[in-house]
Amino acid sequence: MWEIRGKKLNMLIDEESVAKRVRELAREIERDFSEAESEPVVVGLLKGAFVFVADLIRELRIPVIVDFLWVSSYGQSMESSGVIRIVKDLDTDLEGRWVLLVDDILDTGLTLKEIHTFLKSKRPRVLKTCVFLEKEGRKKVDFDPDYLGFKVPNRFLVGYGLDWGELGRNLKGIYAVEEKG
Ligand code: IMP
Ligand code: MG
Repeated sequence: MWEIRGKKLNMLIDEESVAKRVRELAREIERDFSEAESEPVVVGLLKGAFVFVADLIRELRIPVIVDFLWVSSYGQSMESSGVIRIVKDLDTDLEGRWVLLVDDILDTGLTLKEIHTFLKSKRPRVLKTCVFLEKEGRKKVDFDPDYLGFKVPNRFLVGYGLDWGELGRNLKGIYAVEEKG
């Protein structure tokens, strides 16, 4: 049984189910993006999406460019404010390109909506969003990803890139951090 800082982790999605869902998403994405006039650009959000991006791009059977964007949310609260600060901008010019924005989890949706607007300002031809997890009943803004891995309950999750105070990213499955104890 895994523990982080004395808290037990309960497995929600095992490694095999993660891998199977990533393959399914890749099939959907490559079908839609095969219409692109030039190589699509996969934009991963650091740090959380790096594991998902690494698996997803290796399941894609089309040539893609991979880039990363690192933003931090203003403020110290547990919940995102929706106001973002760019820590590391993209190296790739998105103008006229097909772009797939990839993130680990959609909670309130504030961060992703803000980043979506920011990427739109770079004038891509097509901009689609792929999120591995979405917490049920948490969304505060009108934002739906084009591709979604799983809907998950409103619990604090770690694994597959998701962290709790920087720990837990290296777990192969998705785990809920035990609330009591
Ligand atoms: P949002 O703006 O509220 O949608 O925040 C989404 C971001 O919060 C994600 O990209 C994660 O970095 C972080 N986050 C939200 N829920 C969790 C969780 O359960 N575990 C770890 N990180 C989370
Ligand atoms: Mg994140």
